[in-house]
Amino acid sequence: MFPIQAPFPMNVSPLRFADADTPAPRDIHPLGPGDLVPWLESRDAGTRAWVSASSFQGREGQSLVLPGRDGAPEGALWGIGAPADRARTRFSLGGLRAALPGGTWRLAGEMAPEARDEAALGWLLAGYRFDRYATATPPAAMLMAPEGVDAPRLEAIAAGEALTRDLINTPARDMGPADLAAAAEALAARFGADLRVTAGADLAAGFPLIATVGAAAAPGREPRLIELTWGARGPAITLVGKGVCFDTGGLNLKPGASMGLMKKDMGGAATVLGLARMIMETAAPVRLRVLIPAVENAVSGPAFRPGDILPSRKGPTVEVNNTDAEGRLVLADALALAAEDPPDLLVSMATLTGAARVAVGPDLAPFYTDDDAFADTLMAAGAAVRDPLWRMPFWAPYEQLIEPGIADLDNAPTGGFAGSITAALFLRRFAAGAPRYAHFDIYGWQPKDQPGRPKGGVGQGARALLEAIGGLA
Ligand code: BES
Ligand code: MN
Ligand code: ZN
Repeated sequence: MFPIQAPFPMNVSPLRFADADTPAPRDIHPLGPGDLVPWLESRDAGTRAWVSASSFQGREGQSLVLPGRDGAPEGALWGIGAPADRARTRFSLGGLRAALPGGTWRLAGEMAPEARDEAALGWLLAGYRFDRYATATPPAAMLMAPEGVDAPRLEAIAAGEALTRDLINTPARDMGPADLAAAAEALAARFGADLRVTAGADLAAGFPLIATVGAAAAPGREPRLIELTWGARGPAITLVGKGVCFDTGGLNLKPGASMGLMKKDMGGAATVLGLARMIMETAAPVRLRVLIPAVENAVSGPAFRPGDILPSRKGPTVEVNNTDAEGRLVLADALALAAEDPPDLLVSMATLTGAARVAVGPDLAPFYTDDDAFADTLMAAGAAVRDPLWRMPFWAPYEQLIEPGIADLDNAPTGGFAGSITAALFLRRFAAGAPRYAHFDIYGWQPKDQPGRPKGGVGQGARALLEAIGGLA
């Protein structure tokens, strides 16, 4: 069972800055290729000799520890690369953190505010370890919060991101619908939010798609709708996250290679919970509602079948042409509920389609919205906080692809053209009524280690939304 009181104690210290009164922090010098020679001119002969004998040239990703007179580390050089190369990497200071010996460090020299904020956040994010099942040593190096950064805000962002990663990384055996609800409950308890879980007969009566998709799960792993609410002032924001705790594909079973990573199919839920944590910990002035349809897309007698025609909460019937297109089904009922009490902003986040991956790969979070101004706000916010997004089209001419004939809607159009777009169009039908809707088709997984982002679960879009929400208020 998910530990309720203190879900992730191990991450706290590495995800914080060093105490402000730590004595004698050592300097990290950010240097690009053009900065090295002038910097060396002001150094003593020993330092110049040490640096010249090394391969350090200030290239992005390079680092060099500087010894003091007694041989103990006294400072470090951080290669930040030439300006033209800086778009290639995010969170490069996170990469340096692993290379540094323990103790307290600080950033020396001037940095532009955005670069400084990115560096500070990259450092914190590099403190993340997933150690629920095996000991994982966190980095020993700590950083003084650089002058001018909003340290509590960055720490809240890092903690929210760590929650997202922990939830995704936890295998489905320990992260079923009940565990996801327990995690949401622990989060609600911590920040004084309200939590409601709908299951059983109430779920079947009010949310037929969620109940049907989750029907094949074993006892104890039954489907449920998790609802968290928090905040009394500001714009109303409803976040809907896909909580498919494992996606076998259902009777249209996924082949092994495609199923391997499907513990991450609750990545949308993990990301909206991480964002909720960021919102609550920074006390953002919003009225927050989080809705998570939590199910397991399993295989057993009660499983829904290809060809079944299912009722939905909102009314339209759905022909199931592939039981592996389950995410849009469970999200449809949750979005319908959300739209019954229209918020100022409705967002869905889901590991919804393989097509989105083919289109933009694991780094970019594709999003859909009809609100051009909000799309621009989101793009700018994503760029500012290094949470890259890319806008995709709600292409109305493809509406016909999701209209099968003997039901109102088709969950899996044949041919698979524009798979991410047709899934988004499907969701938009159920979000109708909300004045502003944005849908994110995220991947939620870092395929290989990158600075600040170890291989494994990763949040996408949450920081951009947190930033954009600030402008809504
Ligand atoms: N969870 C998957 C989508 C997915 C797969 C996301 C791999 C990230 C990585 C989703 O439920 C799914 O299986 N979608 C199908 C839909 C198709 C059957 C219409 C897909 O994308 O292939
Ligand atoms: Mn699926
Ligand atoms: Zn899925």
